[in-house]
Amino acid sequence: KHIDWSPVQAERGGYKHFMRKEIHEQPEVVEATLRGRIDLAEGDVYAAEMGVTPEVAQSIRRVYFVACGTSHHAAIAGRYWMEQLAKVPSVVELASEVRYREPLFYPDDLVIAVSQSGETADTLAAVKAAKAGGARVLAVANVLDSAIPRVSDGALYTHAGPEIGVASTKCFTTQLAALLLLAVYIGRRRSTLPQERAQQVLQALWEIPSHQREILGDADYVHAIAKKLVHAKDVLFLGRGLGFPIALEGALKLKEISYAHAEGYAAGEMKHGPIALIDEHLPVVAVCPRDAQYDKILSNLQAVRAREGQVIAIATKGDEAMLELAQHIVWIPKAPDEVMPLLTVLPLQLIAYFVANLKGNDVDQPRNLAKTVTVE
Ligand code: G6P
Repeated sequence: KHIDWSPVQAERGGYKHFMRKEIHEQPEVVEATLRGRIDLAEGDVYAAEMGVTPEVAQSIRRVYFVACGTSHHAAIAGRYWMEQLAKVPSVVELASEVRYREPLFYPDDLVIAVSQSGETADTLAAVKAAKAGGARVLAVANVLDSAIPRVSDGALYTHAGPEIGVASTKCFTTQLAALLLLAVYIGRRRSTLPQERAQQVLQALWEIPSHQREILGDADYVHAIAKKLVHAKDVLFLGRGLGFPIALEGALKLKEISYAHAEGYAAGEMKHGPIALIDEHLPVVAVCPRDAQYDKILSNLQAVRAREGQVIAIATKGDEAMLELAQHIVWIPKAPDEVMPLLTVLPLQLIAYFVANLKGNDVDQPRNLAKTVTVE
């Protein structure tokens, strides 16, 4: 059969935009990032190439994440995992805030620089400051031998392949996968993570690509939701725990490509500000899978409903209570809490994509934004 595609269309694999193609590539690139690194029987992770030896893993006193943009959101999830699974005190900082602030680094810090391109100027500068302070630096990057891995002590590479769309999608989920592997690796080396729990987490991670395929197969429904958001001037995204960085990421995606004002908020902070904005005109997108934070976010959503706010929920299949609360629901398959971010972010990427596309925006090259920011 003859297919009439231009070379650029062929590169996009038949999709209208690279971003859509990259969203749909996530199951395979997450799989590629996990492949060869997981031992399910032992509940362990192999990533000797990153240079964090068992001795180093045991001697770390603090993990210090630095990153910008979407990578910063992955780093927030990375911090939560590092604390919950490896039990290492952790902080996460915006790279641009680190560099001019006289930050304190110590030789027993593990600084983790998360950067898709490996070239972001602010992140590179933060890494240099960390090195000058004597800290050990690990790069989590997608581009082999880029500037940040080169100046770091080791690198853990994501295998997302080249990402063309300016708004990051597949790089984000592979960063999440790599950071979760890292937390398991460090937790096992320090004996803070029991083998059985490690096995459960790794098994859940291994099943992520098939759950992602299921969500991506249902994009039509998400398209219908996006139609309702096309005219929204402001959209509030709420999440708690591991849902918080996903709320931030959902808002960033929408802002970047649809040019709507969107704000990501920790649901518990709603009462300290955003609740003042809520009325029937403000759509609220809630990341509310059935995880440990579920009951808390439910009461946040009741507060939204009491003020006539419109709720779009990303919820776990079978969650009947959500039917009462939300006007629109995107259902996510059941999975353990730890891996939820790799699922809940997909509908948010699709919502942003569809809204931007419905507006006729240049999805792959949004105005004023660059894929790699090598200036301050
Ligand atoms: C730019 C891109 C974002 C990206 C950020 C950090 O703003 O448009 O998609 O998240 O840089 O990039 P990095 O390469 O360091 O992950």
